[in-house]
Formats: sequence, structure tokens, C-alpha cells
Amino acid sequence: MAAEAIVIDAGSRLLKAGFAIPEQDPQLVMQTAMTKADEGDIDKIDLNGDDWKENAVNPIERGAIHDWEAMEDLWRYVFYTGLGWEVGNEGQILIADSLLTRKIAREKTVQLMFETFNVNGFYAVEQPVLSVYAVGRISGCAVDVGHGKIDIAPVWEGGIQHNAVKRFEYAGQDLTELLGAKLAKSNPHTKLDGFALEQIKEAVAVSLDDSVDYEKKVADGSVIEHTLPDGRVISVGSERYTLGEVLYQPSLVEIQEYGITEQLVRSLSLCSPAECQKPLIENIVLCGGTSTMKGFEARFQKEVSLHGTPSLRPSVVKPPEYMPERTLQYSAWIGGAILAKVVFPQNQHLTKGDYDEYGPNIVHRKCY
Ligand SMILES: Nc1ncnc2c1ncn2[C@@H]1O[C@H](COP(=O)(O)OP(=O)(O)OP(=O)(O)O)[C@@H](O)[C@H]1O
Ligand SMILES: [Mg+2]
Repeated sequence: MAAEAIVIDAGSRLLKAGFAIPEQDPQLVMQTAMTKADEGDIDKIDLNGDDWKENAVNPIERGAIHDWEAMEDLWRYVFYTGLGWEVGNEGQILIADSLLTRKIAREKTVQLMFETFNVNGFYAVEQPVLSVYAVGRISGCAVDVGHGKIDIAPVWEGGIQHNAVKRFEYAGQDLTELLGAKLAKSNPHTKLDGFALEQIKEAVAVSLDDSVDYEKKVADGSVIEHTLPDGRVISVGSERYTLGEVLYQPSLVEIQEYGITEQLVRSLSLCSPAECQKPLIENIVLCGGTSTMKGFEARFQKEVSLHGTPSLRPSVVKPPEYMPERTLQYSAWIGGAILAKVVFPQNQHLTKGDYDEYGPNIVHRKCY
């Protein structure tokens, strides 16, 4: 039997990759940022290199590939070192594309896959569709709260309702920065780099039940002590709650936008036919690393329920019990693994023959 296809979801912060085995987490979860070694020797990519180091390269920003040379190195690393493909005997690949990926970027990707990596078959699908598949559905509204962006994308019968999509370039990386600015004031003598800040954020950030609760916590002025891996101790005040609150009240950071659930409701009101609006709001797929913040799902469910009626029950979908524990954190990858098990055996993918005959723009007709 041929080896499974490789599935890749390369995010602004974390790359998730592995052979298509949907019952388990991706084999490889690594930082997308890397430090470049001399002459771009791929074996010297520093996996501990974080994007705050001076010579670090981050090929993906806010979900889009912006440094193709670095991206090629990263793919090469993943294929041959990370997952063990052999040169000359490459397998098939399914790419979980970021929402709003430009056509030209799709063409460039397929070109690199066939011409540089000689893949044996190619398919690409947008991430929100895959996230909905991951929870066993073909319709649902994906809300991906990631590192570089928040994407709200209604998916109806396997297709994205593009006119209703919403993207915000305020997400995990901005929360890390916000925390950094607050801690620089409250702990002026402790120097913290971006990596340390991100770890602190993941440990202390909390989304409270509602804005009243938030106001109370701010007024309380309670402070906790947080011990860093090197033993230093810092104090963290109400900023830990602000990290969760700001997504519901963007005005806290001077952003004049509606909060995340209000945006969701507005997005769904644009979906057609109108009959699909109810099933979409009743099947919200909340995913992405930032959505794993403590209390986040409960707050989200509470806020979105405010838009309910006796016959309309907005709700966040729970993954089926047999799915891996981190299904929502890795939903695009897992959905990709599920789809790969269908697309390749049924020959719905792009082959080298298709590519040679029609060129890179065949990708728009055959995928998505
Ligand atoms: N417990 C937590 N609390 C808050 N944030 C968290 C937590 N766990 C992970 N995160 C954040 O989730 C983000 C990574 O999420 P994810 O892997 O979905 O992003 P990505 O796919 O790399 O980026 P994007 O999809 O935006 O391009 C990081 O900012 C990380 O700090
Ligand atoms: Mg992502």
C-alpha cells in the first residue's frame, strides 16, 4: 500500500504537518519561524530559533507566505528531514491553505510542489472547510482564532460563503505584544523576550464570563505571581483578563470594531440562502490556538447565546469523543487528514500529468 499523503497547515506561528492519519495529532508541530544557517543549509534550520531572534526568518505573516525562499527551505525540511520522504520517491501532498490566499500564491505553491519537490499528487483546500470536516460536518461556521489573524468563515455544504467571510488582523501575536507592553510597565526591571512573553501569556491569560466580571476584576486590582522557567518571579495584574476581554471589546486597545461574536452574527446574516443561517449559527467550530485560552469557549458560548431565540440556539460544536483531544487546536490539519483519505484514493487530486498539460492555473479548477 502506498504511504499516506502528507498534510501541512503552515500557520503564522506553528506549522502542523504529518502523514494523513486523522485519528492522531500531526506528527510534526514546530515553529514556522527559523534562523537561517549559512547558505541556507536546511539541516541547520534551528528548530529552537524563535522569531524574536535577530536573524530569524518568518516565511508566513498574518497567514500569508511572504518569503518564498524561506518557505521552500521550510517545506524541504518538513518533507525530507521531519517526515522522511526520500529524494526521487516523493509522495502526495495536501495543503491546508489559509483563508484569502491569493490566486498567484496558489499557483506558485503548486508549481514548487511539482517542479521543485516532484510530488506524486497535489491537493489544496482552504482551512475553514477542513476545520468543519474535523468535527464530522460539511456545514458549519469556522471561527479560527490563531496567531496572526482571526478568520470567520461560514462553510455551507463544503463550500465557503466568500461574501460573508471576515478577517481580523488582531490575534495571538497582538495579545503577546499587549502583554509585553503591560508587563514592561508593571515589571520594569525584568527583561522578557517574545518567546518568554508568549509562554507567560499561555499560562496566565483568562477569558472571563462577561464584561461585568471583567470590570470587577480590574477594580479589585488583584495580582498574581508568576514564576519564569529560570526562577525569576514577575507579578501579573488584571492584564491577564484584558487578554481575553479585548477580543470582545476591541475598543480596549483603541480598535473601532465589533467584538468577535457580534462579527460572527453579522457574517452569518450575509449568508444565503437565508435558511442556512440557522444551521450555521447552531454549528460554530471554534478553533485555533488562541481559542484554547482558559475560559474562552465558555465566554464565546455565552456571548453568542445572547443572539438566540426559543427556536434558534447558537452553539459551539464539540468534536466527537473518538477524535484526538486537541482536535480544535489542530482542526485544519485533522480535517486535511480526513480529506486526504478520500481525495487521493479516488483520484480527485492533481497529477503531474494535469500540471504538465494545463500549467499551474489548473489548481483553481481542480482544487478548492
Ligand atoms: N492557552 C493559551 N492562551 C492563549 N493563547 C494561546 C494558548 N495556547 C496557544 N495560544 C496561542 O495560539 C497561537 C497559535 O495558534 P495557531 O497554531 O492556531 O496559530 P497559527 O496557525 O500558527 O497562526 P494563523 O492561523 O493565525 O496564521 C499563539 O499565539 C499561541 O500563543
Ligand atoms: Mg492557523
